[in-house]
Amino acid sequence: MEIKEKNVFVTGSTRGIGLGIAHEFARLGANVVLNGRSAISEELLAQFADYSVKVIGVSGDISQETDAKRMIDEVISELGSVDILVNNAGITNDKLMLKMTEADFEKVLKINLTGAFNMTQAVLKPMTKARQGAIINVSSVVGLIGNVGQANYAASKAGLIGFSKSVAKEVAARGIRVNVIAPGFIESDMTDAIPEKMKDVILGQIPMKRIGKPEEVAQVVVFLAQQEYLTGQVIAIDGGMTMI
Ligand SMILES: NC(=O)c1ccc[n+]([C@@H]2O[C@H](COP(=O)([O-])OP(=O)(O)OC[C@H]3O[C@@H](n4cnc5c(N)ncnc54)[C@H](OP(=O)(O)O)[C@@H]3O)[C@@H](O)[C@H]2O)c1
Repeated sequence: MEIKEKNVFVTGSTRGIGLGIAHEFARLGANVVLNGRSAISEELLAQFADYSVKVIGVSGDISQETDAKRMIDEVISELGSVDILVNNAGITNDKLMLKMTEADFEKVLKINLTGAFNMTQAVLKPMTKARQGAIINVSSVVGLIGNVGQANYAASKAGLIGFSKSVAKEVAARGIRVNVIAPGFIESDMTDAIPEKMKDVILGQIPMKRIGKPEEVAQVVVFLAQQEYLTGQVIAIDGGMTMI
């Protein structure tokens, strides 16, 4: 798929990996939709001024079905279509399983998995009509190999993989592709919050011995959007952490 002049909706793009993905698409000439639960600031929109593309902000909570539908409708009435959806927004709420409550579990599932479901559901009808579209879901290496204290997060990210493969099979004949990236340890607010001691442990598990950058993840997302014969796949971008 040619990226230039396509309309790309990146959920959770006010900072971190999502913001990096939005910049990479804009750099390549795509119009981008920025999203987060909080209001999209003028300062954030101004970051995109030099790309000569359309940039709009729609705030809303992807875990709420009505918000997801409203946001997709808003973008379609403003830009005409959503050609590429990147389900990036996600949260963590770490606790050891023995201390994890049902509410702790549900909170993460509701945003990371149901949120992607809501956005995909809202975008599929218009994509089906257009007989083209690319959906890229942001999972995690934790969804592939698990992690201590992240049973909720791992379940949501592993669930996203099964979800993506199922939808990929359903919509492939309609010209819509669904793929997954599984980032490892990437620079962001999410990883900044990890205590230094823990970071050293994680670095010890990365063969490349460094943290990844949002722009490195963004390049893989763009590749998945562009490549027309690729669907239902999971690409780990993790400095060699998983190698499966
Ligand atoms: N950082 C890593 O090392 C790493 C590794 C593997 C996978 N990932 C995955 O990559 C994605 C991005 O991670 P990140 O580290 O960049 O996170 P981050 O810096 O914490 O940013 C999260 C983004 O998601 C938005 N968001 C959160 N809940 C939302 C909701 N319910 N509806 C709409 N937007 C919401 C946030 O905006 P508001 O706060 O305004 O809502 C923010 O823009 C996540 O899915 C994460 O699980 C990250």
